Amino acid sequence: MITVRADVSPLLFSPDRPGGRDWGPDRAEDLMRSALAGQPNRLAHSAQAGARARCVLAAVPVEDGELLLSAALLHDVGYASAARRTGFHPIDGARWLLSLGAPHRLAALVAHHSEARLLAEAEGLAGALVAFAHESSAVSDALIYADMTAGPAGAPISVSDRLDDIAARHAQEDPALVAARQARVPRLLAAVERVQIRAVVASIG
Ligand SMILES: [Fe+2]
Repeated sequence: MITVRADVSPLLFSPDRPGGRDWGPDRAEDLMRSALAGQPNRLAHSAQAGARARCVLAAVPVEDGELLLSAALLHDVGYASAARRTGFHPIDGARWLLSLGAPHRLAALVAHHSEARLLAEAEGLAGALVAFAHESSAVSDALIYADMTAGPAGAPISVSDRLDDIAARHAQEDPALVAARQARVPRLLAAVERVQIRAVVASIG
C-alpha cells in the first residue's frame, strides 16, 4: 500500500472537483493490481514505479503529489487486456482510464508518459494523442524518473541500465521505432536530471 506524505495538499483531488480524491494512489494501486494481475512482471514494474515516484515527491509541487503517485502506478495499465485496443499502451491506458471516469490530467500523463509522443509518431498514432493535453512539468519529469528507475520485473534499476535494457529488448522492432526510442533518450535523461536537481534543492530548502 502506498503511503502518501501527510502534508500532500488535497487541492487536486478535492472531493469538490470531478474525479477528485477517488483517483488517489490507493484506488490507482487497486486498479493497477487488478488490471495487471495476469502480468506479474508489469505489475511489479508498476508497483516499483509507484515506490520510485514516492522517493521523489519532494521534486513536485505539494498539491501534485498524489497525482504523481497515481500516474506512476497506472502508467502501464494500457497493457492490461481490459484496456488493450490499439496495442499502443500509453493511448490504450489513457482511454481506458477516461472511460472509467479518471481525471483528464491523470489520463493525459499516462498517454504521454516517458515521451510516448515520439513513439506514437513512429507508430502512426500521433493523431490519437491529440485528445490528451501534453504536460511538460515537474510531474511529467518525475513520472519519467519513476518509469526509468523501475526495472522491467520490478527491481530498482539505474537509468542507464534501464535504457540499455529497453534498447536491447526492442532492437528487432521496425527501424523507425528503434530510431524513435533512441531519439527520446536525451529527453529522458534530461528529465531525470531535472528531477534529481529539484529533489536536492527541496532537501536543502
Ligand atoms: Fe513503464
